[in-house]
Amino acid sequence: MMPSPVASYESIADSLRQRFERSYGTRPRIFRAPGRVNLIGEHTDYNDGFVMPAAIEFYTWVAADRRGDPVLRVESDQFSEAAEWPLDGLSGAPRKHWSDYVRGVAAVLQAAGCPLSGANLVIHGQVPLGAGLSSSAALEVSTALALLSVSNYQLPPLELAKLCQRAEHEYAGTRCGIMDQFIATFGRSGHALMLDCRSLDYKLLPVPEEARLVICNSMVKHELAAGQYNLRRADCEAGVRLLQQHLPNVRALRDVTLPDLEKHRDELPEVVYRRCRHVVTENQRVLEAADALQSGDLARFGRLMYESHRSLRDDYEVSCRELDLLGELAATGEGVYGARMTGGGFGGCTVNLVRADAADRFQRYIMEAYAKDAGKTPEVYVCSAAQGAGPWQS
Ligand code: GLA
Repeated sequence: MMPSPVASYESIADSLRQRFERSYGTRPRIFRAPGRVNLIGEHTDYNDGFVMPAAIEFYTWVAADRRGDPVLRVESDQFSEAAEWPLDGLSGAPRKHWSDYVRGVAAVLQAAGCPLSGANLVIHGQVPLGAGLSSSAALEVSTALALLSVSNYQLPPLELAKLCQRAEHEYAGTRCGIMDQFIATFGRSGHALMLDCRSLDYKLLPVPEEARLVICNSMVKHELAAGQYNLRRADCEAGVRLLQQHLPNVRALRDVTLPDLEKHRDELPEVVYRRCRHVVTENQRVLEAADALQSGDLARFGRLMYESHRSLRDDYEVSCRELDLLGELAATGEGVYGARMTGGGFGGCTVNLVRADAADRFQRYIMEAYAKDAGKTPEVYVCSAAQGAGPWQS
């Protein structure tokens, strides 16, 4: 069980400020950006489709101040080794080091024409790492806000989210979609966000009072950059190329209907067909889920979550034994509307929509049952939808 992260915001900001002052002797500004949980719509963002993430109450915090020389220096309280670069030496091959994210963001901001000043940064991460809760987007977006602020430069939030996505492509090697950076930037307290990843139009959907988002961390670390993520994306692109030969108006899997896909099934390699089927059906599920949420039909929303999980497990093949187990256990829990893996997959977390009055009991139940079956103690977070990135004012 985890204590509520909200209770500790003041003390996080205080100790970050103190640490910064000890290291650099000046008073920093503080920025933060949240992790996220995706309620439904997985692996649809890079197919121009629909997603429904919510920001969560775990943030990445960045304390920052300007330096007199053209140098960027960063330290983190999660990693012992600090990093430092001259501002005219930011680009270059990633080192597979945590600081690649920071350097990557600085490099893409600079390449986009932002005149960066030298800066000192100290980072504190609350978002569990490698848990599929998008600690990397939280780090990118909070770093971007901090760098822009010390450089007295402004960018529209959408531009900022897109540049952070680019940093992830170029410096972390994951050809991710826009979901994570978008929700870290635009998340709204109490709301999930239904995002059209083609037009980037979004709608805020209130998460009903009577429900809680319970996140269960399987404690299996995912490794998106290990290549499986990019392979799935390549399968989707292969599907689009083959389908375009028959359906010239298709630009992305977003444009393919299930009857279209079934009609051309024999033209696709079997694996590519299944990847496409996941994306096509998942987009449909997000639209239905938005409808269910708006009409307060949580039972229907929950059924769609279970269906999404099955599709990710069987067609997209990005689940793992532990995530399946968490989903199966949730289905036998009291007061659970639905459960599914969330994020890129291959480990990480499930998201569970649970009746508010049953959330604590569910938390105890799933911890015990998972520990018994999987031999690992999960972390379970009872979350509310949180506010997106911004400056911290204490
Ligand atoms: C990761 C990526 C996102 C998205 C999800 C899967 O979190 O960063 O862009 O593709 O996986 O839905």
